[in-house]
Amino acid sequence: MATASAPPEGIDLAGLEEVACRVARAAGRLVVDERPADLRVTSKSTDTDPVTEMDQRSQELILRLLGEQRPDDAVMGEEEGSAAGTSGITWVVDPIDGTVNYLYGIPSYAVSVAAVTGDPTRPGHWDSVAGAVLNPVTGELFHAHRGGGARLTTPGGTRTLRATLATELGMALVGTGFGYAASMRARQAALLVDLLPRVRDIRRHGGAALDLCGLAAGRLDAYYETALNAWDRAAGQLVAREAGAVVGGPVDDVPTRELVWGAAPGLAAEFGDLVRDLSARHVGPLD
Ligand code: IPD
Repeated sequence: MATASAPPEGIDLAGLEEVACRVARAAGRLVVDERPADLRVTSKSTDTDPVTEMDQRSQELILRLLGEQRPDDAVMGEEEGSAAGTSGITWVVDPIDGTVNYLYGIPSYAVSVAAVTGDPTRPGHWDSVAGAVLNPVTGELFHAHRGGGARLTTPGGTRTLRATLATELGMALVGTGFGYAASMRARQAALLVDLLPRVRDIRRHGGAALDLCGLAAGRLDAYYETALNAWDRAAGQLVAREAGAVVGGPVDDVPTRELVWGAAPGLAAEFGDLVRDLSARHVGPLD
């Protein structure tokens, strides 16, 4: 499979990480401080796939800030609105990842901002080079740039993130998520039936970006999801990799919509083989 292009020459990856952090913080403040009593929810792909006025406002803010700070870069987001660019960098953003949690007031959602090279509309042809994932309720900011390690910044300080030392599949705590279409959820449920007896337990927190950062922070030993969009994982998969986790897809280390999985290094070979096999059997190609 073709791989993503290298970062444009002379690019300051640490600088991109700082931009991602700043923009995520500004959008995080907006979605918490300006949350209206009536969120004005509409739906997207299915009746259970919500979009709130705040998803849209958060994306508008992110687009404006990136336009000011990185005028030559492109932007692709989950909600309406995008920007073309000439620099070779595209910002892939999810203005609220975990929208259902946001809707219900469950404090587990995030703003996810990633700088990627390559073409994020073509599976396997892009890769993240810097990114930030902020849980605006807890104030936890997960951030990384390629080759620079992964860090968690809280009001108390900044620490380096490391994936767990887990080696035994039967003792692994595994995160996952499900799509919005009933037919897809039935296939994902069939996969889960086969996986659950082979691991310690499953967690479904409701936000893929925070799941991948949870893998980076040692709160999960492994994670997988099928039918996930690029904006849900672009920043989180970089944070997980930079924390030493192995991140892959149906083939090699290239996540796609069909499958993204991540695991602590000591589990990666066994877990990767298992979820590749189960996703091929129950879900199959999607791109
Ligand atoms: C969703 C969340 C969820 C995952 C879904 C995603 P959204 O993103 O990341 O955890 O299971 O597949 O669509 O819609 O809240 O941005």
